Amino acid sequence: MKLGVVRESGMAQRNFNRRQFVRLGAMVAASMAFGMTACSSVQESVGSASSVAGNTSSEVARSEGQSEASASTAQEAVASRTLVVCWSQTGNTRPLAEYVADITGADFYEIEAVEPYLPEDLNYDDPSTRATVEQQQTLDVRPAIAGELPNMDNYDTVFIAHPIWWGKAPRIVLTFLESVDLSGKTVVEFVTSGSSGIEGAEGETHAAAPNANWLEGKRFDAGTSRETMEEWVQSLGLAGPKLVQGQETTESKVLLISSGDIRLEATLEDNVATAELVALLQEGSIEVSLHEYGGFEMIGGLPQSLPTADEQMSTSTGDIVLYQGKQISFFYASNSWSYTRLGHIDGYDSAALLEALGGPHDSTVELSLKE
Ligand SMILES: Cc1cc2nc3c(=O)[nH]c(=O)nc-3n(C[C@H](O)[C@H](O)[C@H](O)COP(=O)(O)O)c2cc1C
Repeated sequence: MKLGVVRESGMAQRNFNRRQFVRLGAMVAASMAFGMTACSSVQESVGSASSVAGNTSSEVARSEGQSEASASTAQEAVASRTLVVCWSQTGNTRPLAEYVADITGADFYEIEAVEPYLPEDLNYDDPSTRATVEQQQTLDVRPAIAGELPNMDNYDTVFIAHPIWWGKAPRIVLTFLESVDLSGKTVVEFVTSGSSGIEGAEGETHAAAPNANWLEGKRFDAGTSRETMEEWVQSLGLAGPKLVQGQETTESKVLLISSGDIRLEATLEDNVATAELVALLQEGSIEVSLHEYGGFEMIGGLPQSLPTADEQMSTSTGDIVLYQGKQISFFYASNSWSYTRLGHIDGYDSAALLEALGGPHDSTVELSLKE
């Protein structure tokens, strides 16, 4: 089956996270100039116990092929035809975009620049910096986008998420809008900013995709909650399984972990990562080679990256998490780090779970979905 936009860009993502981390200092100062509090959930994730295996993470969520494979209901097929496009350089817009993708069951595409923006490029106190020059002087410039663009044939509804730069949309967002065909698509723009509204961006963005059906856009503060984003998405009246019908979510799915003769069951979380994991498992079971690490986890690589929604947490026995987008970790004891929750195995104490997973020796488990 043809894949739409599966762009494996793990190294870019890892660098992106590091850059974001470095940027925070600069942005705290910069943001204050626009009357805001810098906010980011981004954390440096190097040095986790889990990092021994080294890894990548993915930016793009579901492929057309996976969506088709997972479209066991008409409602799921509707959901897979929504795309969230995100440009976020200091980590404020990205979590909001991820909420919208999760709420709508959408695919996620993050714009990446061929020439990445460094912290100094974003310093708007200096009129000679790249972003300021682009936004104020060389307005026609269209920074090149790295990697493949999404295939818009796969989507009916597209969310465009970005920050406000000097009252406008960043030039690279215009590159995107001018590079894809949004004719006849329902397009919804939303932004974060220090204080500026979305109005200053809309003239250019709408002109860049004049044949799209633009719904009313909205500006949000950094750190806006998932609940607020959900209320807003609901207010748009878009069709989709989680929005209208609301029955089919990953919450109802049970993950089977087979290790030799032992079969463990785990309740899955309902988030962007598990949605992708379920889509993957609906194509067939997968094997994961596990090794013990640190006296608290059995961990191994997945065959492909999953989208992340990392948060700082202290894990407990039975927790299953995603580490750096591509490693699945089964915790038989506790560790504090930034992970994306995938699910939980009930009813095992630490020693029993380690043994059931074949630890502390290297082992192989098969992951599948319970019918
Ligand atoms: C180059 C640059 C220009 C900015 N211009 C504005 C602006 O005109 N008005 C405003 O309210 N905020 C402005 N900001 C602040 C950002 O809009 C805000 O921090 C936003 O949440 C950043 O989103 P991100 O972290 O997803 O990149 C600017 C930030 C940068 C880096």
